[in-house]
Amino acid sequence: MSRSTLLPLLANGEFHSGQELADALGVSRTAVWKQVNRLAADSGIAVETVKGRGYRIPGGLDLLDADRISAALQARPRSLLSRLDILDSVDSTNAEVLRRAEQGGACGLVCTAEQQTAGRGRRGRQWVSPYASNLYVSLLWEFSQGAAALEGLSLAVGVAVARALRACHVPAVQLKWPNDVLYGGAKLGGILLEMSGDAAGSCRVVIGVGLNVAMPQAAARAIDQAWTDIASITGGEHPGRSLLLAALLNELLPLAADFEQQGFIHWRDEWQALDAFAGAPVVLTTGTGQLGGIARGVDERGALQLETTTGMQSVYGGEISLRAAS
Ligand code: BTN
Repeated sequence: MSRSTLLPLLANGEFHSGQELADALGVSRTAVWKQVNRLAADSGIAVETVKGRGYRIPGGLDLLDADRISAALQARPRSLLSRLDILDSVDSTNAEVLRRAEQGGACGLVCTAEQQTAGRGRRGRQWVSPYASNLYVSLLWEFSQGAAALEGLSLAVGVAVARALRACHVPAVQLKWPNDVLYGGAKLGGILLEMSGDAAGSCRVVIGVGLNVAMPQAAARAIDQAWTDIASITGGEHPGRSLLLAALLNELLPLAADFEQQGFIHWRDEWQALDAFAGAPVVLTTGTGQLGGIARGVDERGALQLETTTGMQSVYGGEISLRAAS
């Protein structure tokens, strides 16, 4: 018996006796008890044990549900999705999709997971990815015209995330160049694009999105920046992880399919309308130093327009971070 067979039975937050669980899983009560004890250590999930009543997870668990996701997919995204894999635990959904890409995985493959044990953030950072709490999703797409045609793709993904959240009635989020999703100045989500193949010709891109849905306080201690989650923003009134994921795929798949033809110019106005730092004094930190100025939106390639004392500078993405000037 694994965690992923036991947890769906406990996900409703009700009490279940050891015998009931043992019968449902075809194992002994001792095996159930051992697995319950492992849950706290492996997943950070607290199971309450009450003599005479059994086990329960207070508040229940919002597990990813393939049927609910599939039912909420619109026709075109559904036709673009080649495969949806829902994993219990993986090092990183981006790493997994990159591995599949090397083994010939098809364009339109999506991997998501209840938990990432080595979630990747930008600039070599860790992406905190506790079990059954947030969304971790990676999409594989193949582009034929090389990396140059993909300028601004990660910014457009930010717009797609904002659209998906709007469709789920999450109050308006903002974007921070190059690809953070913010609410009230705190980080709600992040985007990480990774590429495999020929930067000059046909290349495969993994579009990774992480969204904080209901971050447990214990896990959040590992986050070293201001953060928020959808549960806090909505007071818990959101449609749940499965429908949030479907909303995300409804936006991401058509974006990936159309981007080479549309280019970032198609997304630029919408990105600018979501820009958290438009007209604000900012400091950019690059590998070589710092650059201050006023953020003046982005150009048709997605390059940040920074008004400096020596004139307007176009800053392209990469290992750069932006923050408000103090
Ligand atoms: C950032 O640092 O802002 C980018 C975070 C990207 C996190 C997502 S979660 C799904 C995918 N898999 C990963 O390992 N990272 C991305």
